[in-house]
Amino acid sequence: MGYGRKAGSDGARDKLMKMFRTLNFKKLTSTNDKAREFAKKGYHNLAIIAERQEKGRGRFNRRWDSDLGGLYMTLLLKENNLEKARYLTLIASVSVAKSIMKLSNLKADVKWPNDVLVNDKKICGILTETISGKESYALVGIGLNVNQKNFPGNLANKSTSLNLELNKKFDIKKVSNILLKEFNILYSSYKNKKYSKIIEIWKKYSHTLGKNVKVKTLAGKYTGKAVNIDKDCNLTIKLKNGKIRKITEGDIFVI
Ligand code: BTN
Repeated sequence: MGYGRKAGSDGARDKLMKMFRTLNFKKLTSTNDKAREFAKKGYHNLAIIAERQEKGRGRFNRRWDSDLGGLYMTLLLKENNLEKARYLTLIASVSVAKSIMKLSNLKADVKWPNDVLVNDKKICGILTETISGKESYALVGIGLNVNQKNFPGNLANKSTSLNLELNKKFDIKKVSNILLKEFNILYSSYKNKKYSKIIEIWKKYSHTLGKNVKVKTLAGKYTGKAVNIDKDCNLTIKLKNGKIRKITEGDIFVI
């Protein structure tokens, strides 16, 4: 099933709003798991939202704390070419940053590869997974801290939510609607293969570039200055010895 491909009489704005059919659930293991089930049945252009997740996950299979109060959403997209799927993470993070600014006036920055920060604390993480086969799909999982008032253990001093920042409750439906609209705008650039435009926009919101960073990858640890992201969405850092190193995955710590 595709949804809302045809523009309504209200034209382009309508088309942007209706690109995704939203499916709401009280509880799921993970919205990415549900998206995978729908993909197997051939569905796409769905925004799958859960009020809570029992097994929310992040990168490197880390647990994503998913109590009531957050936005847990996966966008199920049908993609012909998964080679560029890493751009979807950039698009999602910029969309979140723009939505936060529209909703709250807070300044939000994107941290390579998949985080959004407010006041240097993580407010959102993105997990993009892919399914390749006769039909290929991307599952863009977005976890945005909206109304949570506290976070467990060592997350407490590294995480924030809209509510913690402004001491006010937000309407999660309104948050998801704005986010979908922002995502759609950038997604049309992606569909039109305007990849360098996406990189340029990401750079405008970047928290990472220009910073001295420690990078922990599966291959090793590096220290240097984050200087760029390349056309494959890799981060490049300039090491202390002046050499440039391409980082394809890992965790970044600003020093
Ligand atoms: C990370 O920071 O490592 C990414 C976290 C991604 C969490 C979201 S919540 C919605 C979707 N469902 C999941 O299980 N994970 C993503």
